[in-house]
Amino acid sequence: MDDTISGKVAVITGGGRGLGKAMALGLVSEGAKVAITASREGQELDQTAKECKKIGGEDCVLTIQADVSDYSKCKVAVEKVISQWGSINILINNAGRGMTYVDKDFVKNRPKLWDIQTESWKMIVDTNLNGIFNMSKLTIPIMIKEGWGRIINISTSLMTMQRKGYSPYGSTKWAVEGLTCILAQDLEETNITANILIPGGATDTAMIPGDVGDKSRTGADGNLFEPDIMVKPSQYLASELSDGKNGLRFVAKLWDNEISIDEAANNSSFDIKRNRTY
Ligand SMILES: NC(=O)c1ccc[n+]([C@@H]2O[C@H](COP(=O)([O-])OP(=O)(O)OC[C@H]3O[C@@H](n4cnc5c(N)ncnc54)[C@H](OP(=O)(O)O)[C@@H]3O)[C@@H](O)[C@H]2O)c1
Repeated sequence: MDDTISGKVAVITGGGRGLGKAMALGLVSEGAKVAITASREGQELDQTAKECKKIGGEDCVLTIQADVSDYSKCKVAVEKVISQWGSINILINNAGRGMTYVDKDFVKNRPKLWDIQTESWKMIVDTNLNGIFNMSKLTIPIMIKEGWGRIINISTSLMTMQRKGYSPYGSTKWAVEGLTCILAQDLEETNITANILIPGGATDTAMIPGDVGDKSRTGADGNLFEPDIMVKPSQYLASELSDGKNGLRFVAKLWDNEISIDEAANNSSFDIKRNRTY
């Protein structure tokens, strides 16, 4: 992409598998150091760390088991990164829990709000929304001291947010978009930006019912993207090439590698306040 990612420190929540893993490998390949987190699957973190080290060497990755919904665990995670590398420049709020935590067969069953278990509702809201608050609250002051930073919040397509039977997942992503829109304005004049990145359709991860790698699975629009779709736009957003881009929604499926980076970025992004298409 360019050399401005090299040496920067990124925290990617939920970096052990799926989209988070793809973005971690993508940033390491550009010379970044990445701290990857998960709340449960330590083995996935270890596997991803192994793959990162093959690309970026022994000191390019840190694995941290920390539930983003628990502020005290997030604080310990951030302290670990600071004691290892002295700074945090990029935060990718990617950790998320999907509808399978409400009903494994949610596509067929379409749960109604009043049938959702309170525990499932809380777990999804706490991860997808409160987790972003926790991690952003802890890392933005560090970025402000550094005079530069990136908040990249992973959301979903508008159709998913409003699809029948997609509460609370869809509801949390609406909230993430609102949070990012307001945060981007809070950050004006700080040299720190906050943007949304979405794949633009269902992507082959554990979030989709069935087995990862089973290509017979598709999203509601019949597509199933590979997690790598996130790599180029996340590298762009993490780099200094995206300086000044703030309060935008980037749609990974619209990123075109055949045109210049600036054009690809412009063609795949929309003002959060105005976008009503993706
Ligand atoms: N796949 C899609 O079609 C799609 C489409 C649009 C947007 N997205 C978004 O992309 C992001 C990544 O999802 P994915 O598809 O890659 O799903 P995934 O494969 O299930 O990965 C989710 C990651 O988040 C971690 N995680 C979940 N809850 C956590 C918590 N409370 N604290 C810390 N880590 C937690 C998981 O690890 P543990 O289970 O070990 O905690 C895992 O590493 C999510 O925000 C999702 O909403 C996905």
